[in-house]
Amino acid sequence: MGLIPLLTSERGRSLHLPAHGRGAALPSDLRAMLRHRAGIWDLPELPELGGPLMQRGEVAESQRQAAVAIGAERGWYGVNGATGLLQAALLAMARPGQAVLMPRNVHRSLIQACVLGELTPVLFDLPFMVDRGHVYPPNRTWFHEVLNELPKADVEIAAAVLVHPTYQGYATDIKPMVDELHGLGLPVLVDEAHGAHFASRVDEELPDSAITAGADLIVHSLHKSAAGLAQTAVLWWQGNRVDPIAVERSLGWLQTTSPSALLLASCEAALSEWHNPAGLRKLRARLDEARELTSRLRDLGLPLLENQDPLRLILHTAAEGISGIDADAWLMSRRLVAELPEPGCLTFCLGLAPQRGLVRLMHRCWGGLLAAYGKGLSLPAFAKPPLPRIAVPAMPCGLAWRAQSHKVPIAEAVGSVSTELICPYPPGIPLLVPGEKLDQRRVDWLLEQHHFWPDQIAGTVKVLAF
Ligand SMILES: Cc1ncc(COP(=O)(O)O)c(C=O)c1O
Repeated sequence: MGLIPLLTSERGRSLHLPAHGRGAALPSDLRAMLRHRAGIWDLPELPELGGPLMQRGEVAESQRQAAVAIGAERGWYGVNGATGLLQAALLAMARPGQAVLMPRNVHRSLIQACVLGELTPVLFDLPFMVDRGHVYPPNRTWFHEVLNELPKADVEIAAAVLVHPTYQGYATDIKPMVDELHGLGLPVLVDEAHGAHFASRVDEELPDSAITAGADLIVHSLHKSAAGLAQTAVLWWQGNRVDPIAVERSLGWLQTTSPSALLLASCEAALSEWHNPAGLRKLRARLDEARELTSRLRDLGLPLLENQDPLRLILHTAAEGISGIDADAWLMSRRLVAELPEPGCLTFCLGLAPQRGLVRLMHRCWGGLLAAYGKGLSLPAFAKPPLPRIAVPAMPCGLAWRAQSHKVPIAEAVGSVSTELICPYPPGIPLLVPGEKLDQRRVDWLLEQHHFWPDQIAGTVKVLAF
């Protein structure tokens, strides 16, 4: 078929990312730009334009204004997704040999950054909801217990990472956690890839942004939670705990020297939506519409779970004995395309475009799905990952990843050290990190995950060859 015919084909109802909904919610100034002669805007880093790391030029000015408007001190646009900016941010916070505290639900890009920067991830476990198989952000008591156990890790921790909100839109108040980490002298990076819209402050009920919570570095994905094109993101900096020169140095290590002017313009346009009255009106309308839609669907019997982001709908398929992965395949063949299939749930991203007729469509599809797969009984409870409150890989991630390895069936890996990252995508959250040693309980749990995600998790694992 070729890429262009595929990209321009109609694909049914898109309840997936990017959040601009196949162009429907692109900011009007970006649309106007795209109506100019095709390609006229594809410029290099000319002096008057500059780039994200230059002090002068329109990009620098745009970043300055965006930072002021959102309440941060500095900002850098990114054209390699939240991935590139998270990696640069982490490398700016810790030196080779140091360790970084991070939750078990970090995106794989941060583990990869540990490899690049020779950092040790100190991974803390999270509350787990057995009815749906999701982790939840920690509350204060949980977080205290994590901090109390830190001395056991016996490593020099230089910084901390928090994820806020999760892919499914779960969030807690992170300010107390940021404050506690600061109290320990640790700078905090928040992966707010899915929560750029929290910074709009448009709606009292949305959780506070990590910017307001006082985090030192914050990454927003502008295509996941604003109306940016795929790959757009922004890194914010504030406070005095992280050296901005170190941030620029690591951005320089990882960024292209030819950033796409189209993507940089998209960063500016997406962010300016949160600061102009028309953009804010649109966002408020989407949030109101999403709450109304959720309430009507619940009234019609759809098992939608509670979360803190109205723009993410979590359909609890497990409540009717249906795997979210089967549900996704069935719905996709009926042209309803979701974002995140998981063993117990299917998450839809409503995005920033209006969703006309969605109640009727989802109600009809749910009825069809129940008739095709429903068991009238919920799936058995999901097993909590058998992980300690905090854990440090038995071997440095980078050494393990590059080591001589051989592939064994998961069942035969007890006592071995993994040399690979096992990670279904989406959501991109590692189930196993290179350097971790497998015990019997972890092996049993991974076998269960293989059964849940047969196309994503192989029945084998690469382990250290002796
Ligand atoms: C929590 C989280 N952080 C970071 C990323 C990476 O974002 P991007 O795809 O923009 O690189 C993802 C992607 O799914 C994510 O879910």
